[in-house]
Amino acid sequence: MPLVTSTEMFKKAYEGGYAIGAFNVNNMEIIQGITEACKELNAPVILQVSKGARAYANRTYLIKLVEAAEIETGLPICLHLDHGDSFETCKSCIDDGFTSVMIDASSKPFEENIAITRQVVEYAHAHGVVVEAELGTLAGIEDEVKVSAEDSSYTRPEDVQEFVERTGCDSLAIAIGTSHGAYKFKPGTKPQLRFDILEEVQRRLPGFPIVLHGSSSVPQEYVKMINENGGNMPDAIGVPEDQLRKAASMAVCKINIDSDLRLAMTGTIRKYFHDHPADFDPRQYLKPARANIKELVKHKLVDVLGCDGKAE
Ligand code: G3H
Ligand code: 13P
Ligand code: ZN
Repeated sequence: MPLVTSTEMFKKAYEGGYAIGAFNVNNMEIIQGITEACKELNAPVILQVSKGARAYANRTYLIKLVEAAEIETGLPICLHLDHGDSFETCKSCIDDGFTSVMIDASSKPFEENIAITRQVVEYAHAHGVVVEAELGTLAGIEDEVKVSAEDSSYTRPEDVQEFVERTGCDSLAIAIGTSHGAYKFKPGTKPQLRFDILEEVQRRLPGFPIVLHGSSSVPQEYVKMINENGGNMPDAIGVPEDQLRKAASMAVCKINIDSDLRLAMTGTIRKYFHDHPADFDPRQYLKPARANIKELVKHKLVDVLGCDGKAE
């Protein structure tokens, strides 16, 4: 099966009350860990590449690795550009064979966001590619951009209908309290997503797929593993998994996870070096890292997303 768009995945996810996992990929072991988990549990998946990942690996390698994963697993896999920052970046990915792109003009004024999103949609749709757009601003770090908590803003439900109608986008990322990175909520506070905003967005856009960025849950076992093996991470708090599960049962069809994979990989490698200080064969420390990514993704598929068994 060639790489697919997310259209069918989202339609079934919306109707079935579950979400598709969108996992960020940067190298072979991450791609293998994710897709081996999906294969074992027969789950459709979105593998997403940020501008930074594309710069790190170059524009060819990640596409070829994702194609290899598709050949090995036979699963429906969507190759998505995460946080495209311009028409040119989106066009370049579309021309390279991505099946989905995000244009993130959420930091721009409403009219400008509409204009640039519309331009990407026209090019993408002419090439059979789908487009995710964003309204509202998440706090945290994405590529080189750091948005402080004060500068973040929830999505205004009264804007979503006009935005979707005028842009023609295929899915919409909204801000309801998630944020990028490992430090999402102040230590000592109780994380709570704004389900009232999600409900209102869903009411105004019935049947339309909604996307949640910044949806890592920051597993404490891996923060601990990092800190017990030479790391020094301050208190890191993620999005509670039961709240993500609830969002997945509503209009949220795509849940973005990157930081949790980074924590699993880094914690595992730190522990490996602590336990085997004389080893220097990359395969020896990448193998357990890949295995732990696989276990983590299996847990997400079953307990958070609910998309296990949903690949055709
Ligand atoms: O939202 C951002 C993703 O976590 C990607 O991060 O730009 O460092 O690859 P990155
Ligand atoms: P996390 O940092 O919570 O993993 O979010 C990833 C993301 O939104 C990628 O676009
Ligand atoms: Zn994001």
